Amino acid sequence: MLVLGIETSCDETGVALYDTTRGLVADALYSQVELHERYGGVVPELASRDHLRKLSPLVRQLLDESGHTLQQLDGIAYTAGPGLIGALMTGACFGRSLAFALQIPALGIHHMEGHLLAPLLDQTQTPPEFPFVALLVSGGHTQLIQVDAIGEYTLLGESVDDAAGEAFDKTAKLLDLGYPGGPRLARLAEQGTRGRFRFPRPMTDRPGLDFSFSGLKTHTLTCVKQLRETDQLDQQTLADVAWAFQDAVVDTLVIKCKRALKQTGLKRLVIAGGVSANQHLREQLRSTLQGMGGEVYYPAPAYCTDNGAMIAYAGACRLLAGQQDQSPPPALRPRWP
Ligand code: KG4
Ligand code: ZN
Repeated sequence: MLVLGIETSCDETGVALYDTTRGLVADALYSQVELHERYGGVVPELASRDHLRKLSPLVRQLLDESGHTLQQLDGIAYTAGPGLIGALMTGACFGRSLAFALQIPALGIHHMEGHLLAPLLDQTQTPPEFPFVALLVSGGHTQLIQVDAIGEYTLLGESVDDAAGEAFDKTAKLLDLGYPGGPRLARLAEQGTRGRFRFPRPMTDRPGLDFSFSGLKTHTLTCVKQLRETDQLDQQTLADVAWAFQDAVVDTLVIKCKRALKQTGLKRLVIAGGVSANQHLREQLRSTLQGMGGEVYYPAPAYCTDNGAMIAYAGACRLLAGQQDQSPPPALRPRWP
């Protein structure tokens, strides 16, 4: 079965072809980062217009470069939520219309299921067997999930306020690092001195698997204000602060992952979503899991952040199992638990 995947929930236009026997055969991504940079964040209306402009040529390019035709498609999967409603609408209308014209099934996919399954896409490593614990860390979500099979998910814990990626972005903004903040803050932290500042590890002193990251942002702001007032905020100090922030987020995530593995008795941990690209997080989780006799799985760096491949893959699994949108298709869900 050859499935076209379409991702347009935020500021990346991602399309890909997944073949259920051959694996991922092609993918293409267009990032709107430059478009939104001058506004310091994603402008929803501009995002929708840019997806509209880019979708058709990107799918054409995907097919041409991989030597496929539209007629070879057996199904189309698109992101149906959560995300920006206008942006979701462009990918959904495009995918549904194309499926209708080609008389093939279409299916709306939960964006976070796409992220969750992204590590299974990687053909260079043995995919994790079910069941496993997944840590989903993106711009909108921080969740620990027990995954028993595709579609069988139990939420173990989540952020009660900001998501980890959101905390990175907001903290980067108040350090004047601009947009996209997360990766810039992570790059600055690499130059930081370890241990010069130590920030709190929120909600680790009580039982449970929920997270809270908004306090860390305020803590960073207070720290930076004090340093500025006493004229100590040079470039190295800024990097030291970035390190302390990143280390606090990473350490908190690691503590909760350990707890989730202990609680479920599982040994396999999958991490996915934009923040899973963070090098420090990857290293810390790798050594922690090694120490516990467990194993950690990541998506390839290109599939940590939003992409069409993860939607094509999640769609292929579900379409193969016989699922498809009914007529009329369900409403899109900008908020989708
Ligand atoms: O999964 P994603 O591309 O989009 C959402 O579904 O939200 O995640 C984007 C988030 C942003 O908050 C971005 O700042 C964060 O992932 N991010 C990172 C890194 N790369 C992306 N955060 C920390 N370190 C990184 N290297
Ligand atoms: Zn995402």
